[in-house]
Amino acid sequence: MSFIQFSTVIDGPTITSLGPDAISLHPRQLICIDHQGYISRLLDEDDPDFLSVKEQAAQQDRLVTLQDNNYLLPGFIDLHVHAPQWPNAGLALDQPLNEWLNTYTFPLEAKYQDVAFAKTVYNNLVQELIANGTTSALYFGTIHNQANLELAKACIHHQQRGFIGQVAMDNPQQTPTYYRDASATQAVNNTEKFIHQLTDLNQTAALPQTPVITPRFVPSCTPASLSGLGDLAKKYDLPIQSHCSESDWEDGYALSHYHMRDAAVLDHFGLLTDKAVMAHGTLLNQTDLNLFKQRGVAIAHCPISNAYFGNAILPVSQLLAQENKVGLGTDISGGYSPSLYRNMNQAIISSRLLHDGVDRQLPPEKRGTSTAPITAKNAFYLATVGGATSLHLKAGQIKVGYLADFQVVKAPFPVFYPQTPDQIFEKLIYHTTKATINQVFVQGKLVKEGQHETQR
Ligand code: GUN
Ligand code: FE
Repeated sequence: MSFIQFSTVIDGPTITSLGPDAISLHPRQLICIDHQGYISRLLDEDDPDFLSVKEQAAQQDRLVTLQDNNYLLPGFIDLHVHAPQWPNAGLALDQPLNEWLNTYTFPLEAKYQDVAFAKTVYNNLVQELIANGTTSALYFGTIHNQANLELAKACIHHQQRGFIGQVAMDNPQQTPTYYRDASATQAVNNTEKFIHQLTDLNQTAALPQTPVITPRFVPSCTPASLSGLGDLAKKYDLPIQSHCSESDWEDGYALSHYHMRDAAVLDHFGLLTDKAVMAHGTLLNQTDLNLFKQRGVAIAHCPISNAYFGNAILPVSQLLAQENKVGLGTDISGGYSPSLYRNMNQAIISSRLLHDGVDRQLPPEKRGTSTAPITAKNAFYLATVGGATSLHLKAGQIKVGYLADFQVVKAPFPVFYPQTPDQIFEKLIYHTTKATINQVFVQGKLVKEGQHETQR
């Protein structure tokens, strides 16, 4: 019998999301990866071809066998990371959003005029995210073209699928003199220049990177830059990212300056498309959410960051029920952790607080809300399928025709009694850390090997 040549065949247990409320755990599968880095065949142990495919792969030295208690999961998709803020992760979380930006964040981001500094930070961050199982990331850079290109180079070098935004912020009223685009024209021109620079870099890149139209948020931009960026997104058919209704202050800014909702302002300038990802959205109302759904806009839920800056908790279960697009983001450094596992945990915890309420002086029936808490399965869906759908990526699931972006994770503790697939899954979601992520694959290539060697 002859078989198609695969570039790699992985043998081991797999876990994938099947939808917001369902996962599947296959105790043993062969995952056959083609030469383009896509999953081309999946065989369970009872498949008549299982042994022959496995043997052929072994003979050709293309077989990767997972160690005991290791599981193959889709790589995660971080829908919102501020790459330049990595040096501040875990610091300076003591002020409300607007003051935090001016006190800590803008001074740090201004440093990326120094390309060497950018290169050092970005290489470290990209490796850290990959080590935490993140195979694709939607990044905010800074206003500096060269530094943003360093971020793209780091993604190419370490093999992470990056979506990279040249940040636009030109409103003299809301940005400091030392860190702003000189004019709306310059903000728009630098963005267009970045699109061309990244397109050129991609000519020789092993893993192409995607430029993203990135108005920082409504307060940072003038109507002229928002309008020009909306036009650019249309001209080049590119993804868009920004922040929307993240805090009372931001929500109030659009109302007082435009007499419109924050979401309506972005929509007015053509910035709400089905390629748009809006971070946070803790204060979006039902009208905004209906608009997001109508336009196909995704929300990047950043639960750790929201506990500091969001002024409210995003009702994730409600969004899933009404089929708003939603994924998960770290929001480094508004969120202190580079791990989407920790953000899944926080998403679950925050949703429980939203449901139960927190004011002990109120009786139980008045203390909480009717929004249901989310589950580990919901959170896993956000970090995988939710992110992939938001970025129009064929990724986030172990499925034929999908990108072979994976993480191999080891069960963190011994098994003390026989466990169901759901129990195995939940333990992994709660306890996986960088130390228990043994391997990471992007488009079929091994990009990170942990301390625990696997058999080959
Ligand atoms: N809104 C505008 N800029 C930022 C930022 O850097 N972080 C967060 N969390 N919100 C923002
Ligand atoms: Fe953010």
